Amino acid sequence: MGASTSELDRMLFQGELFRPEAERLLERCGPGPGARALDVGCGPLGIVDLLAGRVGADGEVVGLDVQEEMVERARLEAAERGLGNVRLVHGDAARSGEQPATFDFVHTRLVLMNVPHCDAVLKEMIALARHGGIVAVQDVDWVTRLCDPPHPAWERLVDVITELWRLNGMDVHLGRRLPRLLRDAGLVDVRVDASARVFQPDHPYQTLLVERAELCRDALVDRGLITSGELDRCVAELRSHLAEPGTVVVHPLLFQAWGRRPEDTAA
Ligand SMILES: C[S@@+](CC[C@H](N)C(=O)[O-])C[C@H]1O[C@@H](n2cnc3c(N)ncnc32)[C@H](O)[C@@H]1O
Repeated sequence: MGASTSELDRMLFQGELFRPEAERLLERCGPGPGARALDVGCGPLGIVDLLAGRVGADGEVVGLDVQEEMVERARLEAAERGLGNVRLVHGDAARSGEQPATFDFVHTRLVLMNVPHCDAVLKEMIALARHGGIVAVQDVDWVTRLCDPPHPAWERLVDVITELWRLNGMDVHLGRRLPRLLRDAGLVDVRVDASARVFQPDHPYQTLLVERAELCRDALVDRGLITSGELDRCVAELRSHLAEPGTVVVHPLLFQAWGRRPEDTAA
């Protein structure tokens, strides 16, 4: 799926929005000076800038993304910020081409929920971490995705997008399963935390669900999950409901889970 300039700008905005959560994660398990860190599916920046600040001039940060336009934008963003210790590469997370067991810290945010082969991506992330290194994942769970007062159009859009994700082999409730996935994949000392944001009509993310539904319009209609007419009605009704001064929106719960690759007992 190609990404438009406006989508890249939205992802940069989102990265800035969730910067405090990312900083909190890095304070808990992030790399120190001189370390090598990898941000898998970094998009137009991801947390590459935060990692670059932590590892410093003696360390290295690699940002990897499967979409060329993401990598190009990330290179521009890194250059603008003067990040000399960053390398941005084009590649698939499931077969990155990076040297195995060479990263002290391997991270991914909002990627696993969007890939059908999330086990393969996680497996590769662990293979890239050195023994004793940290693998950290941030991803959402739609358990908190609600608006208040409730509205039937909200429920309908959540339901059809959830079903579209399921049909494509993905899971909008991935967040809660992350600690289990990390443990099952062989990580030890697995930790987890989660937090959610609440928005009001003055925030651009008040209408994110509506915009996502419009972005998925063709897939939703082609899969027979909703007609174009009903989607138009839901979008129009919801836009006016969400614009009401008293309507609040709870964003999906952001899970952060991390664990350590066991020491190599065979060595
Ligand atoms: C929702 S964006 C998140 C970007 C970034 N991690 C952030 O939090 O700002 C998901 C990113 O994952 C990338 N991606 C999806 N599948 C991938 C894969 N198999 N290998 C590498 N990147 C992938 C997409 O190209 C996109 O840039």
